[in-house]
Amino acid sequence: MSRTPIYGPGNPHPLSVMKTELVWEGKYDEYGNRREVDIAGCAMPLQKIETIDQPRSEAAAKGQRSLDYYEKKTKRLDDFRNRLIWGDNKLVMASLLKEFKGKIDLIYIDPPFDVGADFTMDVPIGDGKETIEKDQSTMEMVAYRDTWGRGTDSYLYMMYERLSLMKDLLSDRGSIYVHCDWRVNYFLRLVLDDVFSKDFFLNEIVWAYFAFKRKTAKKFPQKHDTILSYRKNSDSFTWNTQYKPHKPEYLKRWKQDEKGRFYRDDVNPTAGGSRIIYLDEVEGDIVDSVWDDIPPVNPVAIERTAFATQKPEGLVDRIIQASTNQGELVADFFCGSGTLGAAAERLGRRWIMADLGRFAIHTSRKRLIDLQRTLHSEGKPYRAFDVYNLGRYERQWWYKALLNGADEEHRRVVLEFFRAEVLQSTPSPLIHGRKGAAFCHVDGIDSIFTRDEVKAVAEAVAQAGGRECYCLAWEFEMDLHLTTAALEKELGVRLKLVQIPREIMEKNRKNPPPFLEVAVLEAQPVYRGQGAERTVDIKLTKFLPSLAEVPSKELAAIKDRAMKSGMDFIDFWAVDFDWQPGQPFNHHWQDYRTRKDRSLKTLSAAGHKYPQPGKYTACVKVVDTFGCDTSITVEVEV
Ligand SMILES: C[S@@+](CC[C@H](N)C(=O)[O-])C[C@H]1O[C@@H](n2cnc3c(N)ncnc32)[C@H](O)[C@@H]1O
Repeated sequence: MSRTPIYGPGNPHPLSVMKTELVWEGKYDEYGNRREVDIAGCAMPLQKIETIDQPRSEAAAKGQRSLDYYEKKTKRLDDFRNRLIWGDNKLVMASLLKEFKGKIDLIYIDPPFDVGADFTMDVPIGDGKETIEKDQSTMEMVAYRDTWGRGTDSYLYMMYERLSLMKDLLSDRGSIYVHCDWRVNYFLRLVLDDVFSKDFFLNEIVWAYFAFKRKTAKKFPQKHDTILSYRKNSDSFTWNTQYKPHKPEYLKRWKQDEKGRFYRDDVNPTAGGSRIIYLDEVEGDIVDSVWDDIPPVNPVAIERTAFATQKPEGLVDRIIQASTNQGELVADFFCGSGTLGAAAERLGRRWIMADLGRFAIHTSRKRLIDLQRTLHSEGKPYRAFDVYNLGRYERQWWYKALLNGADEEHRRVVLEFFRAEVLQSTPSPLIHGRKGAAFCHVDGIDSIFTRDEVKAVAEAVAQAGGRECYCLAWEFEMDLHLTTAALEKELGVRLKLVQIPREIMEKNRKNPPPFLEVAVLEAQPVYRGQGAERTVDIKLTKFLPSLAEVPSKELAAIKDRAMKSGMDFIDFWAVDFDWQPGQPFNHHWQDYRTRKDRSLKTLSAAGHKYPQPGKYTACVKVVDTFGCDTSITVEVEV
């Protein structure tokens, strides 16, 4: 029989000794101890998939003389290469700790904070007169389920873990800025107090932007976001006071002397009479915690990308300038369209950015390449950057525990919809089915099909005497086509990457939805000139985009459109004229559509010269309007 405990001075009631704090599910373990952030198994090798120094590579491709000229014109700032990383930021940060613990001087983040947000977005195709809807990718859906699945509890848990990792990455002189709004600012402040301590709180900045006012709601219209800032720990954190131009009404208080100089002599009358201050000796109006001088990114702004939540560069410029000096390292682990990287690049800071959305990575890459080109054309320095993947996605990250053996059932359902035979006795655990003469592999539910996996599958198929295999998966690691091309050459096994359509999850679904191969791309070399003067370019001859992120209601119409004019769906393409298997893709030449200029070349204009006659492999990478990439290799002989 349980007895009611007797509380008193010797046995105080738990509530009488509790301190004020924000508690979320999972903050304490069952013994009441604070749970550590568990990053065991999260640190993974970061795989460099692209190296981007486009203007310099282009000069190098045209011959040594222009490279020398180039180096004289645009000096390298240093050898640091900025990083753009695709992946869940918990895994990304855990993987960065080894190299960057205590090394990052500023972190700005703008995490998602709209629980019920609609994540579809309109992306332009072709000349931009038409747009189509883009849905979330499976990976984004899973991440958002993790973030919001248990409402505020799971959001707080997600943010607490991320902020703790950010604290470890920050340098002793570093600080963090967290961008949020009325929906989450009240509890993010408490989580930040928890991680960084109240003592290191710096500011609650109000970013008051212009907002179109409607009289409909029975409350005051919302007109600001909140940015919470903290320093890591020491008093010697970096700080540079910021100034803005004085407002005209303030200037009216200044008098003009006979030489035309503006002055005031009434500023400090108590300190011994008049003390004259001249306006041209004052640096400007000190920026305080209300920022009402930075407009949001308007629909026609030059910096505008297709990203709905894009923040203005001016806002991030101010943060970077206040809290870092030239050459210091800044990071954004929820980077979206890459605003922080763009601001940092212009201001001469080094940067690291991460996002789990493919579209975000693509938008950031394009934006930063464009900036490299602009800075180069203005004769200004810039740094090269590399794009990374996380090497290996741990299955438990994708809810393996929760699946409880559901993988087998999932495979069977996928194969049945794909109209393939489910193999009862298989030559390898990696071969699950057969369709015609080809084998089938079905990747696990909620996981990404990686290059290690595709290699294992190809080897299993080759060993079983197969020559072709459909690899069905929900999500593919970036640049997987390059691995399949290399494997095809090495093992003679043709690997077809097929996206599992989301419609198979629909209840009571009987008819198979279309299974689409992950984009189709064809290209050929174009030669000009003879002998040592021979140049090579690449012509795109066919492209069909992957339509995995098109909402099903639009699929039929878009498919038709894609068959007729697939090239309209290309947003960006690039060529590495001397691709080496297993090496990152080197951007020698690229072309892309911008908001202002929607045209796109389908024949490269690199005029690439090889150092000596021989056979080479060029690699062509295309990113479609949904941010999905596909690559092929093209054999070249000069
Ligand atoms: C509000 S947007 C950031 C917008 C950005 N400040 C800009 O100016 O474009 C938030 C971003 O966080 C990303 N995100 C959400 N959860 C993430 C996670 N766990 N890891 C990495 N990125 C994540 C989303 O994909 C989205 O691009």
